[in-house]
Formats: sequence, structure tokens, C-alpha cells
Amino acid sequence: MIPDSGSYGLIEGGALAIKDGMISYCGTADSLPSDFADWTVTDLGGGLVTPALIDCHTHVVFGGDRAREFEMRLEGASYEEIARAGGGINSTVQATRKASEEDLLKSALLRVDTLIGEGVSTLEIKSGYGLEIESELKILRVARRIAADRDITVRTSFLGAHAIPASYKGEAGKYLDEVCLPALEAAHAEGLVDAVDGFCEGIAFSPDEIAKVFDKAKALGLSVKLHAEQLSNLGGAALAASYKALSADHLEHLDEAGVMAMAKAGTVAVLLPGAFYTLRETQMPPIEFMRKHGVAIALATDCNPGTSPLTSLLLTLNMAATLFRLTPHEALAGATRNAAKALGLADRGMLAEGLRADLNVWAVNHPAELVYRIGFNPLSQRYFGGIPCTQ
Ligand code: NIG
Ligand code: FE
Repeated sequence: MIPDSGSYGLIEGGALAIKDGMISYCGTADSLPSDFADWTVTDLGGGLVTPALIDCHTHVVFGGDRAREFEMRLEGASYEEIARAGGGINSTVQATRKASEEDLLKSALLRVDTLIGEGVSTLEIKSGYGLEIESELKILRVARRIAADRDITVRTSFLGAHAIPASYKGEAGKYLDEVCLPALEAAHAEGLVDAVDGFCEGIAFSPDEIAKVFDKAKALGLSVKLHAEQLSNLGGAALAASYKALSADHLEHLDEAGVMAMAKAGTVAVLLPGAFYTLRETQMPPIEFMRKHGVAIALATDCNPGTSPLTSLLLTLNMAATLFRLTPHEALAGATRNAAKALGLADRGMLAEGLRADLNVWAVNHPAELVYRIGFNPLSQRYFGGIPCTQ
């Protein structure tokens, strides 16, 4: 039995008209208005056309790797134990500080190109592995250079409140005052920040400390988002919602009150099955409550060297279905329109007139195939702003 395709908004025998990088018609070829009759036609060979994919939560710019920690976890150590012993985020911080801007660009592009190869055209990139002013700026400059070097949109998030660096151990407040907030101001002054993120967790920052960072973000006119309820429930998502956050991310330990706060604020839930999988978490994010209260669910790779060394958004969709029981339709919405919402981008994520012509053409028969197959890349063509891409 072929599943109902109506829920995907599928159009059989469809046609798109593109002008100045934007979609000016989306419907059946049969009902294409006569005004388009003399336009140049490209035959897409019967492929499935979807909006381009959007990876709305990544840490792709970093130095070194954490393969040894992977081994340590297999030997029995937990993520939190490794972090408290000076490994974890702080070990990537050491490697990132040492790396030159060129080195960081080169290593990040290998990851970014893998994502692009699966049809990602909009990518969020966080700082957070510098934790000193110049190093945070260096990461964000690399993120801007990635956008200049590739046919994609990059949205940056300042994540100075990612971890307390070793030199400020036990002095989170001092770190915020002396490094994080001045770094945010400097990065904003250089035009490097599109949004402000934080990590609210026992091994990172408390809700009060995050509130301090968010107050500064708001004073600068920047939107916020938060890594919340990943390992425990500190009420981070509700805090983020009280600042009208774009998104709260991870959320395995979120409760119903937190979901309701997010629903009221229109904060998107960004689920990160790659981190759930890598850390072998057992606590599921409260997806039924998200459905019940109408919280938009987005999905992202969370590409980072510690908890999610993942550079496949298609595999992420499969993990979301298999591990979190999202439907393929929810998974695809999570990497397109809801991911756009999580980045505050109203001009993309759907095939509709007036939106950007960021499109993927896939050699599949049905959208569910994009979610169901594992380790298979059926992308046959990517269009960015209406232009066919060679990357
Ligand atoms: O999204 N949760 C905090 N930050 C990252 C992990 C970063 C790391 O371990 O290097 C995450 O999972
Ligand atoms: Fe993350």
C-alpha cells in the first residue's frame, strides 16, 4: 500500500518558476500561467524536488578531534566524568586556540562540504571552542569565510557561554564578566553574530548565569537560543522561552511545563539525535507533549567533536525516526521549514511563491525514502538562490 502522499504536499507533474533567485510559481505544470510560456525550461527528469535542507545547530569549526574520548567512553567513563576531569569541551578548546584561522577553515570545509553534498544550503555555525576573546572571534570569522567560499547561507551563533575554561574553574561569573560578555560585544561590533546561544547545565552555566548573557544579547538587539535540558532539567527551556528564544535545543529532560512555555513563546524544539545516539542516552525528548502543545520540532546534526561527530543530515533524519519515532513527514519538516523557523529565517524552508529558490532534486520516488534509507545519498542537483550548484 502506498502511503498517503497528501501530508507531504506532494504535487505530481509539478513545475516551479524561478526569477531573481526566488520562486515565482509553484504548482502543476498543467496550470502554469501563460505568462511563463516563453521562459527557459529545465527538465528535472521526474526527480523529487524539495526545499533545500537546513542544518540549524552545528559546531563545525573546531580544532583537533576527540577520538580518544570515544575510546574512554567505551572503556566506561561518562561524558560528564570526562568533562569534569578537564577533557570534553575544554580539550577541544585547547586544540582550537592553537589552530590558525586557515587551519580551522580548511578542516571545517571538509565537514561543511559533506553536509552540502547531501543538499544542505543553510547552515548554522556556533563559536564556543575559543572561550577567550580572540579565539571566539577567530571561529566566527571562519564561519563568515565559509559563507563567502561556498554557495550556502551561514547563520552564526555566539556561544561564549559553552563551558567554563580551565583558567576560570569555579569562577563562572568572573568568566562571564571578563571574557564572555566582552567577547560578545566585540564580535557583534565586527558583524560576526546573528544570534546568541548558551549551555545551561550542571557542567556548564546556571539559569541565572545564562540570563546574564541573554540580557546582554537583548541589549544588543540579538535573538537567543539555548542548549537546554540535555543531561538534567534546570528549567533552561522555560528561561529561553521567557526571552522569546528562537529555539531550545537537545531537551531530553524537558518536562511538560517547559514544553508549554516554549509553545507560548513560539520557541522551536531542536532535537539532536546524533548526540543522543553518541552518548547512548535513554531519556527520550518529550515528543508527545511537543505534539500536544504544538511546539515546532526541528532536527540538526549538532556536528561537534565530542557528542555528535556527525556530518550527515539525512542520517540525522533517519535517527530521529528510528530513535525518537518521528514520522518521516515530521523529520523532513524538521530539516526544512521548522529549521528555518529555528533560525528566524522567514524566506526559506518551503516551496512557495515569494520564497528563496533553494531547492534539492532527488532521485527518489517518495519523500519518505529520504528518511528511511541509511547511508544513501540520492541528491542529484542542488539549486541555491535559483542557480544550479556544482558543489
Ligand atoms: O551540543 N552540549 C553542549 N555542547 C555540545 C557538545 C560539545 C562537545 O562535547 O564538544 C553539544 O552536544
Ligand atoms: Fe550543540
